[in-house]
Amino acid sequence: MENEKEQQRILELRKILHEHNYRYYVLSQPVISDQEYDRLMQELIELERRHPDMADENSPSMRVGDDRNLEFEQGEHKYPMLSLSNTYSEEELQDFIRRVNETIQDNVSYCCELKYDGVSISLTYRNGKLVRALTRGDGYRGDVVTRNIRTIKSIPMVLSQGDYPAEFEIRGEIILTHEAFRKINEEREENGEPLFANPRNAAAGTIKLQQSSEVARRPLDCMFYALFGENLPSDSHFENLEKARSWGFKVPDWNKRCQSIVEINDFIHYWETERNNLPFDIDGVVIKVDSLTQQRILGNTAKSPRWAVAYKYKAEQAVTLLESVSYQVGRTGAVTPVANLRPVFLAGTTVKRASLHNADQMALLDIRIGDYVIVEKGGEIIPKVVGVDLSKRSAESKPIEFITHCPECGTPLVRNEGEARHYCPNEDGCPPQIKGKLEHFISRKAMDINAAEATIDLLYRKGLVRTPADFYRLTFEQIVSLERFGEKSARNLLKSIEESKKVAFHRVLYALGIRYVGETVSKKLARHFGSIDNLMKANLTELTEAEEIGEIIAQSIRQYFSKPSNQKLIEDLKNAGLQFAEKAPVQPASNKLAGKSFVISGVFRLHSRDELKRLIEENGGKNLSSVTSRTDYLLAGENMGPAKMEQAKKLNIKIITEEEFLKMLE
Ligand code: IVH
Repeated sequence: MENEKEQQRILELRKILHEHNYRYYVLSQPVISDQEYDRLMQELIELERRHPDMADENSPSMRVGDDRNLEFEQGEHKYPMLSLSNTYSEEELQDFIRRVNETIQDNVSYCCELKYDGVSISLTYRNGKLVRALTRGDGYRGDVVTRNIRTIKSIPMVLSQGDYPAEFEIRGEIILTHEAFRKINEEREENGEPLFANPRNAAAGTIKLQQSSEVARRPLDCMFYALFGENLPSDSHFENLEKARSWGFKVPDWNKRCQSIVEINDFIHYWETERNNLPFDIDGVVIKVDSLTQQRILGNTAKSPRWAVAYKYKAEQAVTLLESVSYQVGRTGAVTPVANLRPVFLAGTTVKRASLHNADQMALLDIRIGDYVIVEKGGEIIPKVVGVDLSKRSAESKPIEFITHCPECGTPLVRNEGEARHYCPNEDGCPPQIKGKLEHFISRKAMDINAAEATIDLLYRKGLVRTPADFYRLTFEQIVSLERFGEKSARNLLKSIEESKKVAFHRVLYALGIRYVGETVSKKLARHFGSIDNLMKANLTELTEAEEIGEIIAQSIRQYFSKPSNQKLIEDLKNAGLQFAEKAPVQPASNKLAGKSFVISGVFRLHSRDELKRLIEENGGKNLSSVTSRTDYLLAGENMGPAKMEQAKKLNIKIITEEEFLKMLE
């Protein structure tokens, strides 16, 4: 009977862990803490050990996780990228030291380091030059992300000092500071894009972007923690890292060599509180046997080295009462459930509210009003609810039913297939959506009209502004009669509105607040289509031909322009005198490519894809989106999709490089 129960539990745990893996690696939306995850995994490993007959190569215990993305070329790790086993208590740490001492009957020094909470990366340097950057992938094969890594300013492309081995690998953690993370999410919020849950997810998402120029805009950093190679300078890991610092790598100087468990514990306790003063997240410390010879003797298990261990800090948690759940409606109509909590002190601040993200997450946590919930503060700025203390649950409690109608305007909510969030579709009539859109329209990076949030609220309440076009109809008398406005401030507002008519087309496009059309996408669209008229005429295929415009963005653009109220808005804004075309129209340059059709794929060294497309058109050629028998040339860049390459080879289509293409124009 007991046996059967355990077997059942194995199946259950596998299912649960698969689900959490999916949330962590694919959706970047983990719902449980790392500690809870480790606990479940340990339980599974222990049960599987007792039931070898139930071994399954697809069990979550068999993988170290896999972050590969098949849009990148894959590369093999020369030295597998293992993970670390975790400890959470002094006893577990003592066990580790004891195991080391059982094998090494000599003095052992340990190198204590911080455990950076980011994304690991392995860099290969040959003759002092960066030649390849690989993500961890499944530990044996990862994605080649060299181009993206080159944009990280603190990673040296060429080493300064000369005593490095001819070839070596260096590993580190790509991180984002809290400040950088906050800015990225602010921008995403403005663009109506889903927010990253924490700096680690944001860093992981950034490294996997196809567009390196977008990576370059995000201030990633990299902390290095391990060297691999045949001719390393020293047998001491600590000293090798010191050397690496002298070659130009960012090796933090808080690494500490310790001789005893007392010293190790001091390091752990010091950083347990001091970590709150770091500008980025760490989730623990790492303790490594310092001598490489001793490391070799200890060796590795299939998943992790026996010579190193992580000591993980517990995420700061508190338990408090869930008083109610409210629902916030954003500019894009997205509805976010928020937990209203009995105030509780957590990691330096009093927490009253916590994010619940979406209906799925609420259901997964099975939280109920009156429950005692566990709140956690990780890298996120807003704390999150991670669990429920079921022992305190009242027998009468019922699952929370997600609202069916918008709390602001009463419209039935919709949830699109494949999307986690509910939306209020009443774009033109739902107050927070209207006000949010007006605020976005006037924001600094959009039309840059100088008006405070309170002014927008006032103009809206007085019925003076309902759509962005109404700003351009405001009169001096209307403004001056508003509370808190005098003659001078009224004149200033009118002046600022007038000035906004000079704002360039791409910013006007951004100001419209089309879902997924943020600052960068607006620039690309403006450059590609030249005017709003061309953009409005473009069908889905034509839209996806523009650089960086995928299916989802294209659909969102089509949807926006198909709405009569948006068409009217554009007409009104045109009449008001806003800029709806790029300044300089393109002139045909030659006929050198007449009759030739091209497919462009990948990323290029000298030109952006749009520039290349423009060159093709300016010289009489034609751009196609997919490789068919009608294609003359495949213009191939770095990181291009393998499917296109294969198709081109199959159809015997000439594959040319950027340089060869430019020669054709000479
Ligand atoms: S050593 C074989 N040192 O933690 C040794 N890893 O859970 C493996 N990490 O994949 C890595 N800080 O991404 C090491 N000081 C540090 C680290 C560190 C963060 C990450 C790394 C690794 C993961 C293992």
